[in-house]
This record gives sequence, C-alpha cells and structure tokens, in this order.
Amino acid sequence: MASQQKNVGILALEIYFPPTCLQQEALEAHDGASKGKYTIGLGQDCMAFCSEVEDVISMSLTAVTSLLEKYEVDPKQIGRLEVGSETVIDKSKSIKTFLMQIFEKCGNTDIEGVDSTNACYGGTAALLNCVNWVESSSWDGRYGLVVCTDSAVYAEGPARPTGGAAAIAMLVGPDAPIVFESKLRASHMAHVYDFYKPILDSEYPVVDGKLSQTCYLMALDSCYKNLCQKYETLEGKPFSVDEASYFVFHSPYNKLVQKSFARLIFNDVVRNASYIDEAAKEKLSPFSSLTGDESYSNRDLEKASQQVAKPFYDAKVQPTTLVPKQIGNMYTASLYAAFISLLHNKHDTLPGQRVILFSYGSGLTATMFSLRLREAQHPFSLSNIASILNVAGKLKARHEFTPEKFVELMKVMEHRYGAKDFVTSKDCSLLAPGTYYLTEVDSKYRRFYAQKAKDAGTAALANGH
Ligand code: ACO
Repeated sequence: MASQQKNVGILALEIYFPPTCLQQEALEAHDGASKGKYTIGLGQDCMAFCSEVEDVISMSLTAVTSLLEKYEVDPKQIGRLEVGSETVIDKSKSIKTFLMQIFEKCGNTDIEGVDSTNACYGGTAALLNCVNWVESSSWDGRYGLVVCTDSAVYAEGPARPTGGAAAIAMLVGPDAPIVFESKLRASHMAHVYDFYKPILDSEYPVVDGKLSQTCYLMALDSCYKNLCQKYETLEGKPFSVDEASYFVFHSPYNKLVQKSFARLIFNDVVRNASYIDEAAKEKLSPFSSLTGDESYSNRDLEKASQQVAKPFYDAKVQPTTLVPKQIGNMYTASLYAAFISLLHNKHDTLPGQRVILFSYGSGLTATMFSLRLREAQHPFSLSNIASILNVAGKLKARHEFTPEKFVELMKVMEHRYGAKDFVTSKDCSLLAPGTYYLTEVDSKYRRFYAQKAKDAGTAALANGH
C-alpha cells in the first residue's frame, strides 16, 4: 500500500566533529610507515578525534541542539528520536536518554525510539526506522530525528590511521528535499567476524582488516545485484551506474571507496550495461569468468577496474569524499558525512538527481538505498542546508595536534574508558561556543555535561550538577 505521506525523507542535517585533529602525513612519519601509506595508500588527509572533554554523548547533544536552533524546530515537534552508535558507553542506558534532557526541558517526553547498534550500520537502521514511521499509519504528524554518533579509535597498529569522530543529526518528515525511494532498497546480512568489540573494558575493536575489506566488497556486490533486480522488476528496464548521478559509500578510508565504485563498474561490465564502451569491455571482460572469491583477491582486476572507473569516479563519487577524507571513519556517521560532502559541493545542481547510498556495518549488515533530491521550502532548501552545515568553516576552525600529543591523549582515554569518579580538565578553549562537553563521571558512573556559553568563554552547566 502506498504511503499517504508524500516525499518522505531528510528535511535537514547538522554535523559536528571535534576541533581536534591530526594530519595523516604527520602520523605516517611518526608511526614509521612508508611515505604515502596513509595519504595515498589509504587515501586519507586528516583525522578528527575526541579530546578528554568530548565523547559520543557530548557530540550528539551539540549536533541535536544546533539542528533544532538553526532550523527553528521546537523540541515539542519531535515525535521519534533514534540514535545509531557503536561506541558503547553504557550497556543498558541508551544515548537517546541523555538527549532527552533537551526535550524534557520543553515538556516533551512523548518520543519513541531508542539506540540501534551494529558496527557502522546503526545510523542507517535508525534512519530507516524513522522514515518507515513517517510513512506508516502510526505517524502522529511530528518530525523524526536521527542521530549518528561515534568515536572511532583503534589500538596502535595499522588500523589506527582509520579512526575518526563525529555526530550527525537528521530531521525526517514529509515534503523533504532528500526523498527516499523506499521501494529501491536492498540489504545483505550475514554472520562474520571481521570487526567486533568483544572486549568490554576496551573501546578498541578486534579487527581482521583484510577480511573486513573483502566482506565490505561482497556485501556491496550482493546489495547491488539485488537492487538492480528490484529496479528491473519495478521499472521494466535494467539498472546500472548510469541511472544515478552520485554514489555515496560508507567510508572507513577513501581507498576502499575507490575500490568499491570500481567494483560496481565491473558488475556493470559483467551485466553488459549499455553505457560501457568497447575499450572498457575489452579490459574487464577477461575477468568475468573468475569466481566471486577469486575476483576479490585478483590485483589485476582491481587495477583494471579502477582505471576504467576513474572518469566515472571523478564525476559520481569524488564530490562525496571531502568530509570522510578530512575526518576519517566516523562509523555510523561516515556514510552521512559523505552525503554531506555532496550537499556541500553540489547543492545547486542536485534537484532532480538520484543518489545511491551504500551503508556497511561489520559483523555484518549492509543496505543500498536510493534518494531523489528536490527543491523544498525554506528553511529546508538544499542551499540553506549546505549553508547551515558550513562544512568549509568547520574544517577551517580546527586545531592540529602533533602525533606525540595524540598518542598521549589516547593513553589517557584508554584509562578513562569505563572509569568512574573523575573530573575532566573542563578545558573547552578549543571548542566552539555552544558545544557540549564532559565535566565529570561521579562515583556512581553518572556522567555530567556542560555547554560552552554562546557569547563568552565561560561554561554554563547544562544540568545543574
Ligand atoms: N605509498 C602509497 N601506497 C602505499 C604505501 C606507500 N608508501 N604503502 C602501502 N600502500 C598502500 C598499499 O598498497 C595498500 O593499497 P591497496 O589496498 O590498493 O594495495 C594500502 O596502502 C594499505 O596498505 P596495507 O599494507 O594493505 O595496509 P594495512 O594492512 O597496514 O592496513 C587496513 C589497512 C586493513 C585498512 C587497516 O587500516 C585496518 O584494519 N583498518 C580498520 C578496518 C577497516 O576500516 N575496514 C574497512 C571496512 S569495516 C569498517 O568500516 C570498520
């Protein structure tokens, strides 16, 4: 049955990332990695991280408050709030309950939804839940709000440069400029140990890096094939990369995004898509007889498909890469930070365009889905969203740490993880006005936050503690 609500999707977005960052080139030298390994090999420029006064809760408080204020949305207008995160601070109390402080103040406690967790996929689960709610008969006319918030930190070693941190808030409702093509959605789920967090007293994952790369590509293939089939059934014509203007990927690091898009082009060659020219066919057809497993480890195929994909990548993917290259992997927020890069770069020309997104969470869960962009009324126009996001301004306002200071901080954070009875430095000098920060974890593990005052540098306590 068709939904009564029309053009359901994302009405507004806000992104927050810590102002503290580290150049990948400096980390590369510090780690003794060969020159170019992190910057060219992984394709990353810079990495954001939480200092000892920030965490997933403070970042999400900042993102939600900022979105509500900048779009002038009354907290009473929110009817569903869903959080996606894999950064476990409490095994029972959801991050959503911390965010309720914003809504309780206004007398709004009637808000459905809790947290969704499965590696980097939780944000997508939260978003699909909100979209489904607005499209359903239980929708009560209010907005849905989705928050993706993560601090991605790895133990010293090859995975460390693939960290990052951010929170993204998304307002969901009808008549949106970013519309879900809800029938055009395909998922792939399986049981794999590629990246997981079984060590409950550590923030660091157990990661089989190589396996996680292959699992990501296998899930991508499966979702793409499934999406193509669904499209053909619905539209009566084949689907290919040609049917969408942009492709947005979950971005643990940029090289995997390059390889992923090349994989879609290889799929299109195998499926004999009409836009593939003779030269491309000649280059890639010899690989079409490889089994799936062989094809994931074939370096010649990887190289040839990346060469063929390059002009398409430049047009359809490159505009989505800015924020993930600058911030690093933001786990649940990573896909939506890539989408925000597209809004930042192309907001003027997006109305009418189709954008395909691929969400991946280790373990594993994956969904590929389609968005249609359109013009909408102020304040929800694409150009206003891009202006409120202020990506360039936020990137420019960051403060670079040396690798030595970063490593020192990681040691402090290791001790702090799961700890009680401490106060932070409360040093919010690097934070922008209006940013929330952690002040204390008391002897009962209760966490307290303050908000940096908007007019001056002094801190105003958020919850009266
Ligand atoms: N100049 C240019 N490129 C270089 C250089 C150099 N000096 N040195 C190495 N490279 C290239 C390599 O050839 C490789 O590129 P390729 O894949 O195109 O061949 C790339 O840099 C990375 O080098 P590797 O030796 O493969 O890297 P390593 O094994 O040390 O670690 C990995 C990479 C596995 C991604 C690691 O960072 C990791 O485990 N990260 C976390 C897991 C992850 O992000 N998985 C992705 C999906 S799951 C998720 O989102 C969490």
